[in-house]
Amino acid sequence: RDTPVPRTRGLDSTLALVRDGYDFISDRCRRYGSEVFETRLLFERTLCLVGAEAAKVFYDPDRFERAGAAPARLPKTLFGQGGVQGLDDAAHRSRKRMFMSIMTPESIRDLVDIFEQEWQAALDRWKRVQSIVLYEEVSWVLCRAVCRWAGVPLAAYDVRRRTADLQALIAAPAAVGPAYWRGRRARRDCERWLAEIVRQVRRGELTAPVGGVLHTFAEHREPDGHTFAEHREPDRQLLPDRVAAVELLNILRPVVAVDRFITFAALALHLHPRCREQLSDGSDPEVARRFTQEVRRFYPFFPAVVARVRTDFDWNGVRFPQGRRVLLGLYGTDHDPRLWSDPDQFRPERFVDRPEDPWTLIPQGGGDHHVNHRCPGEWITIELIQSAVTLLASGMSYDVPDQDLRVSLRQMPTLPNSRLVLANVSQR
Ligand code: HEM
Repeated sequence: RDTPVPRTRGLDSTLALVRDGYDFISDRCRRYGSEVFETRLLFERTLCLVGAEAAKVFYDPDRFERAGAAPARLPKTLFGQGGVQGLDDAAHRSRKRMFMSIMTPESIRDLVDIFEQEWQAALDRWKRVQSIVLYEEVSWVLCRAVCRWAGVPLAAYDVRRRTADLQALIAAPAAVGPAYWRGRRARRDCERWLAEIVRQVRRGELTAPVGGVLHTFAEHREPDGHTFAEHREPDRQLLPDRVAAVELLNILRPVVAVDRFITFAALALHLHPRCREQLSDGSDPEVARRFTQEVRRFYPFFPAVVARVRTDFDWNGVRFPQGRRVLLGLYGTDHDPRLWSDPDQFRPERFVDRPEDPWTLIPQGGGDHHVNHRCPGEWITIELIQSAVTLLASGMSYDVPDQDLRVSLRQMPTLPNSRLVLANVSQR
């Protein structure tokens, strides 16, 4: 027999979500003593889940699908239309292979090398000014680095504009008014820019190295219209140039978004001098790895992921009817006291001897990278944060002047209010 699922009161909880931000799901789960509750968001009945057991269910592709699951404002800003996030089954696996094929250790090493060169070039400038806003500077460094790595031409005078557009895509989904429309415009401009680059590659007017991101995406072929018949050999088509642009943006946008984690990493170095000390000679990559994992666990980024029930099923005595929208709380799971002791303490040592597990540390989604929608950029994210942590802690010195370092859990996505001002930067 189904047990009644706890329900939030009132007609709609969208305003409560805006008010409670990252804590919306876990607060209610705690209040109801349940890993699942039902609410209405944007006037649609929605089941919310948290925890490792919930993640295992959520990432079962027989139970959930992604097509049409996200509220319209996400594909219109953050994701784009026709991209990997909204695909299921064989169509998803084929597209995901394209992403996974560029995530080799050599290719990731190349990106990190380029990032370090760009950081060094920026550091030469930082030394000559009184202070910098770290978040902004790192975003430009990342934008230059990812475009060089991907083979996307980017003129020096375009760096700030393109970076601002890529950031606008991430700020838009939870925004109302101008910031939302700014994201819509940024999506249109970015897609036009990258679709033209894809056409140039296909016409032979722009050379893209084989195996690189641009070449891989411009030349990727899959069965037309995602009608997969895996046992036949259907005609394989190039992606429409607009879809190839959407997927290129699925590389450029999130690499630039690592600026948020790097800013949080710098904040954590400042707030935890003992960690900084351990990292100051830059000699132990294991210490940097643990620190990086704790940054990804502790600091808020994406609050949740969304899917739709594919066929009716029961879990924990609760009925999940076909078509129901479901949210899995990522931040809530990364702070779940059943999985993490003192979850609201920043403690990198918790990762000493902690075996890797695909369901507990899920800031970038859970499950299997190839089969599920789990983020294919996870290794890139880890390597870039780790490199930045080493550069900050052992490659330079600086002061952190008085400023508003508070991090609001209501703003999604969030940052330290001051975006981290550093003064008197010098090389070590
Ligand atoms: C998917 C987070 C960096 C590319 C995702 C998902 C999350 C996420 C939560 C959705 C998982 C799901 O739907 O189940 C993050 C965070 C990052 C980051 C917090 C830090 C900045 C990256 C990077 C790349 C990337 C660096 C590429 C280089 C993607 C793509 C998907 C994805 C293509 C869609 C995968 C799919 O639908 O199968 N990411 N990500 N992300 N991410 Fe990331």
